[in-house]
Amino acid sequence: MLNGWLITFEGPEGGGKSTQVQRLAAYLRSMNLPCTLLREPGGTPIGDRIRQILLDPTLREMTQRTEILLYAASRAQLVEERILPALKRGDVVLCDRFVDSSLVYQGYAPEWDLDEVKAINRIATGGLRPHRTYLLDLPVDESERRLKKRGKLADRIEQKGQGYHERVREGFLRLAAADPQRYVVVDATDSEDRVFERIRADLAAFLGIEEKEVDR
Ligand code: TMP
Repeated sequence: MLNGWLITFEGPEGGGKSTQVQRLAAYLRSMNLPCTLLREPGGTPIGDRIRQILLDPTLREMTQRTEILLYAASRAQLVEERILPALKRGDVVLCDRFVDSSLVYQGYAPEWDLDEVKAINRIATGGLRPHRTYLLDLPVDESERRLKKRGKLADRIEQKGQGYHERVREGFLRLAAADPQRYVVVDATDSEDRVFERIRADLAAFLGIEEKEVDR
């Protein structure tokens, strides 16, 4: 029996997902709700090593199928080692990216066979699906501006061109439009506090947390 909740965060780079995930975890813990925080690719010792390969900008020869399979391998390990045990304990699992990132970055954006990406990911996850997903949406030029400001060198995925990243944004918006029951689209150009409040309020309602108990 899986008693917990799988909540995922998706969107282009620079949208502030990891900051929001941390703030939400602090909020949930303050409400005495056990939660587990994870990120993809990675989140396990094996996944973290796969992440290094995936993001290494010198590995330009990586084929599209290798890329799909490596993201899926990291995910398969994360599901069995961390996500399923946490869901069985009844945790709220906050996961920074999940299958939808592969559908968009490996399927929709490079115009690869989406059914193939879906099939591989069904094997990787055993069909596990998020209960709720927050899309932190951001225009491509704003995403680039934020990444430049951070001053780190572009990783292998970030090095793909402007057209690719336009399709990444479009792909996420399409997924959200196709599944409005699960997806909540949040404007990530808003201030960090407003984005947090939007997600916190929605998550509280979704999980049935009594607002009157909120002590902020
Ligand atoms: P991050 O910047 O959110 O840590 O994600 C790392 C990069 O990996 C980011 O450029 C998006 C990319 N990515 C994929 O291309 N496919 C995937 O399935 C996942 C999880 C991430």
